[in-house]
Amino acid sequence: MIIEDQVDLTPFNTFGLSAIAERLVRIRTQEDLLAYFQDFKTPSLVLGGGSNLLLTKDISGDVLRLEIPGIDIIDDSEDSVLLEVGAGVVWHEFVLHCIAQGWGGVENLSLIPGSVGAAPMQNIGAYGVDLSSVFDSLTAYLIADEVFEDFNNEACRFGYRESIFKKELRDKAVISSVRFRLQKHPTLNTSYGAIEAQLDSMGFADLSIKAISDAVIAIRRSKLPDPEEIGNSGSFFKNPVIDQLEFERLQREFPGIVGYPAGSRLVKVAAGWLIEKAGYKGKSFGNYGVHANQALVLVNHGGAKGSDVFNLSEEIIHTIDELFEIRLEREVNVI
Ligand code: EPU
Repeated sequence: MIIEDQVDLTPFNTFGLSAIAERLVRIRTQEDLLAYFQDFKTPSLVLGGGSNLLLTKDISGDVLRLEIPGIDIIDDSEDSVLLEVGAGVVWHEFVLHCIAQGWGGVENLSLIPGSVGAAPMQNIGAYGVDLSSVFDSLTAYLIADEVFEDFNNEACRFGYRESIFKKELRDKAVISSVRFRLQKHPTLNTSYGAIEAQLDSMGFADLSIKAISDAVIAIRRSKLPDPEEIGNSGSFFKNPVIDQLEFERLQREFPGIVGYPAGSRLVKVAAGWLIEKAGYKGKSFGNYGVHANQALVLVNHGGAKGSDVFNLSEEIIHTIDELFEIRLEREVNVI
């Protein structure tokens, strides 16, 4: 465990926002985690890759950064492999490792920023696949009970960008490792329209997990800003799920509106479309604004304040409500 005082968190959040942590505690092992909770008080914030975070203020107390490494095979059969992965492993490095070994299941989730330990928190998803489809189980430290506990798929209560760790167990559990079941003869998922088109344009002769990963990487690079270049947290808002009849009403008024079936009589509306229609796409307010290629992403052009980005998100929520009578919800964690 490494403990530092008065640390600027700019390098530890993909939005690139400055906030001072009174103490930064870097956790490298499960034993570190145990020792921390035995000796110290409750942390003010637990950080993974810092990729789903909007920091609007300095943080008094401890910021815990999960840096537990390791990708270990714990079960290997003819068809699949079960891996135990440390919470601190960078998600995309894990994906690349699986692809290099020929293990399928996470290729559609290529290039998602963040860490493995943070991935189950919001059940990360992209291009027709979400984490819950490869997830086996995880181990988390329950702060009040002072024990490590295993959670299977059902116990995590995964939903669209949701899990028990964002709800009932918010601030009460710290994920230390995650187990994934990957396939040796995977079924490839190209159902998401943009992937097919991208594969065609890249002229891949044989479909493979590597081809899908390359296609996903190309799509993401074309639409989503690279946090190394422009600070951002990916989708800032969730796609709202509304009643089918309400969607049909909106369709009459706004014929181009984009939505996808989301269970019985429900439609998931593309929030990016709503925000673009409201005139925000590519809009800049000095050092922050809305990304030019994907209106669902708010960006820090350099030196922005988290509170400014937050106020912009409030304005967008208000405008979308006025225009479409839809209340957007933030996907990012506001601190
Ligand atoms: N659209 C617009 N204007 C925009 C953006 C989108 O009109 O500025 C419309 C387009 O019609 C497009 C449709 O919205 O076809 C869907 O856009 P896209 O495929 O980019 O997906 P999304 O619904 O905006 C979601 C996830 C992304 C994920 C993509 C691909 C959420 C909140 N976001 O975005 O996840 O990469 O699908 O699967 O569900 C993230 O969570 O950080 C993230 C990037």
